[in-house]
Amino acid sequence: MATTAEYGLGSQTYPRGWFMIGISENVGATPQAVRYFGRDMVLYRGRSGRLVLLDAYCPHMGTHLAKNTTSWVVRDGKHVEGDSIRCPYHAWRFGPDGKADEIPYIKGKIPEAACVRSWPVQERYGCVWTWHDPENGAPDYDLPAITDWDDPSWVHWTIDDLGTLPCHPQEIIDNICDVSHLSPIHGSTVEYFENEFDGHTAIQRQGGGHRTLSGAEFSTDTWYTGPGILQSKMKGSYNSRILICHTPVEDGVTHAWHGLMVQSVSGKAATDADIAAARGFQAASLAAFAQDFEVWQTKRAALSILQVQGDGPFNKARIWYKQFYNPRAQAKAIQDRVRGVHTVAGLPGAPQPAAAE
Ligand code: FES
Ligand SMILES: [Fe+2]
Repeated sequence: MATTAEYGLGSQTYPRGWFMIGISENVGATPQAVRYFGRDMVLYRGRSGRLVLLDAYCPHMGTHLAKNTTSWVVRDGKHVEGDSIRCPYHAWRFGPDGKADEIPYIKGKIPEAACVRSWPVQERYGCVWTWHDPENGAPDYDLPAITDWDDPSWVHWTIDDLGTLPCHPQEIIDNICDVSHLSPIHGSTVEYFENEFDGHTAIQRQGGGHRTLSGAEFSTDTWYTGPGILQSKMKGSYNSRILICHTPVEDGVTHAWHGLMVQSVSGKAATDADIAAARGFQAASLAAFAQDFEVWQTKRAALSILQVQGDGPFNKARIWYKQFYNPRAQAKAIQDRVRGVHTVAGLPGAPQPAAAE
């Protein structure tokens, strides 16, 4: 495990961007303690159905807003009221904007300081997302649009929660350009490979056989939308798309999730047989990801890479990744250092570059 500072990524410990923080169906009206970006937060579903993410500690006396089972506030069902959450200790209540909207015993006005930080939350594609920015700016790009989501020929993913890895997300990001692991780890016969960096997007295009997934001829267009959301469109025995998300928990600890959507073979509305096939293919995709995961769980940090000819452009991807760890004002200059297509010595690039969505 190594830290952002040890990798020399930039002045901000945690990156700016959209990040997955949970699975939609797991979030209900019982507030949950969650921890990302080195901070404790609470996540709950208000009575309107809206998701709320707040810093965890009450400004009154520091009580954790979620971690309680014995207070009468909780036992009487007053923990979440409307879209607000009530502190178990003295029953101050906070709205989804984080401001105290009731202090039951106060004489006079509620002070301005009676608030906790509220984080933006979005719920899409079965996942819960937040925007994290050390400079507190609004999002400068959107969550990726998953264009096949509303098409009935596609079977939705069920998200695999892979838990935490004792490694910095840098080690996961390296995978986007790691052409030389594809054959030994995944059994791929790589026939072409290239990367492209464009603003907050990093793309990998590759094709060849893949022993873990299908054995058959196979091509993938894979891309990061910002630092934490990876999608891969695969063409092979099925049309499918992978989602892999990773979010910093601590400096050097990362939470990861995996999902796979599959299109029915007929291209028509998915049947029970298509759903069963999709579940099987998701399991195979998870097994392929587990091949990377096993390495990440035990490797030492690659603070520098002993790069040889035939390796992918690790140095370029690492520069691309720095844009998220530095003030937003520097992002464009960092992007400009790596913008464009990068190929690997001895391998052709993609025959027909497909754009990321
Ligand atoms: S500590 Fe939260 S209301 Fe007192
Ligand atoms: Fe891999």
